[in-house]
Amino acid sequence: MGYLVLARKWRPQSFEDMTGQEHVVRTLANAIAQDRVAHAYLFCGPRGVGKTTAARLLAKALNCVNGPTATPCGKCAPCVEITAGTSVDVAEIDGASNNGVENVREIRENAKYLPQRDRNKIYIIDEVHMLSGAAFNALLKTLEEPPPHVKFIFATTEPHKLPDTILSRCQRHNFRRIPAARMLERLKQIAAAEKAALSDTALALIVRQAEGGMRDALSLLDQVLSAAGPGASDEAVAEALGAIDRTVVQGFAEGLVHRDPAALLRLVEDSHVKGVDLKRLAEEVALQLRHVLVTLATGAAPEELADAEQQAVRKLAAEADGAQLARLFDVVHGAVWDVGRAAQPRLALEMALLKAVQLAPAASIPELIARVEKLAGAGGLEPARKAAGAPGGRSAPAPFRV
Ligand SMILES: Nc1ncnc2c1ncn2[C@@H]1O[C@H](COP(=O)(O)OP(=O)(O)OP(=O)(O)O)[C@@H](O)[C@H]1O
Ligand SMILES: [Mg+2]
Ligand SMILES: [Zn+2]
Repeated sequence: MGYLVLARKWRPQSFEDMTGQEHVVRTLANAIAQDRVAHAYLFCGPRGVGKTTAARLLAKALNCVNGPTATPCGKCAPCVEITAGTSVDVAEIDGASNNGVENVREIRENAKYLPQRDRNKIYIIDEVHMLSGAAFNALLKTLEEPPPHVKFIFATTEPHKLPDTILSRCQRHNFRRIPAARMLERLKQIAAAEKAALSDTALALIVRQAEGGMRDALSLLDQVLSAAGPGASDEAVAEALGAIDRTVVQGFAEGLVHRDPAALLRLVEDSHVKGVDLKRLAEEVALQLRHVLVTLATGAAPEELADAEQQAVRKLAAEADGAQLARLFDVVHGAVWDVGRAAQPRLALEMALLKAVQLAPAASIPELIARVEKLAGAGGLEPARKAAGAPGGRSAPAPFRV
């Protein structure tokens, strides 16, 4: 057998294996156990989060020789054929290329007859929102009162394009983007089984780029393994993904919190030389500051970060204070747009970072007030004012070269 891409090789073969869609899986399993299976389902959600996979699993659950069961055997003829997409009683139809009224008429005609071998005749229609208006109309009647052996499973990324008449005749399930922590868990498991020694940091980088889509995550993992090999370093993985090295991003966050302009300028220089997209870099730095602020506010580092990163973020959170972080975030986040459209992005980024370093208050507001009060109590209000105004002051501009 030829090479099978990871997304296909690792298509979940049981409801249990479906990551991050427990709310859907539970309902389906209960319906099967209680013999309350609807005759038409609509699976909605973004790309690559398990809609087609769940449709096939449901088909297996209904037609397995041991079924209907929430735990289809995977070994009997119906199970094997549904997995391979060759079952005579389960039709997988691409709504985009079979969107005409004649296609639906064919389904309607066909649905009248009993299944050839298995318990149910199941129609899985992908991208169902692509059907024409006439096709939807032709479908309505069958959908309202289908023969008892017929089940429909529709999948779509764009449910808002479906007519209400169709929506109201289906049991709808919303699939969600897969939470980062869950996706990381699944990727770890798959990477280990594939004998790929990628660090958690590298896998977390993939998770970040996949934005909740498991198919995208697995395609990226494929891409990394073929570009950088199974023992790839974090840097090689970042390069293969066209991503920005996490240690560099963390370096920026540290430089900002520690108010270290020299280190920041050095990092900009390095990134510039390496050809890093500076707008994306600014976005990543803003996001990293957000992570530090969240850690400070909630006492826990975001779960989607790799362990090493969580540790670095926690350390930084302990060294910073909320007011400072919020201001740093404002400046860096505000700079993203400027950097993106500047004739000289590097210059724009440097200026923003230097500004951020200068603006950041040396202490939190309550701390400053306490200091002012203490000084006022000692009768030295004048210097106290100066102290409170000093951080943004012009007294000592940091020297820098462009
Ligand atoms: N919830 C999930 N748990 C585990 N793996 C998943 C999940 N969702 C998707 N995958 C992986 O992604 C692949 C594609 O999933 P699937 O075809 O079910 O997505 P889809 O939601 O139908 O996407 P599309 O809208 O593009 O048709 C699967 O083969 C599987 O490897
Ligand atoms: Mg699909
Ligand atoms: Zn079976």
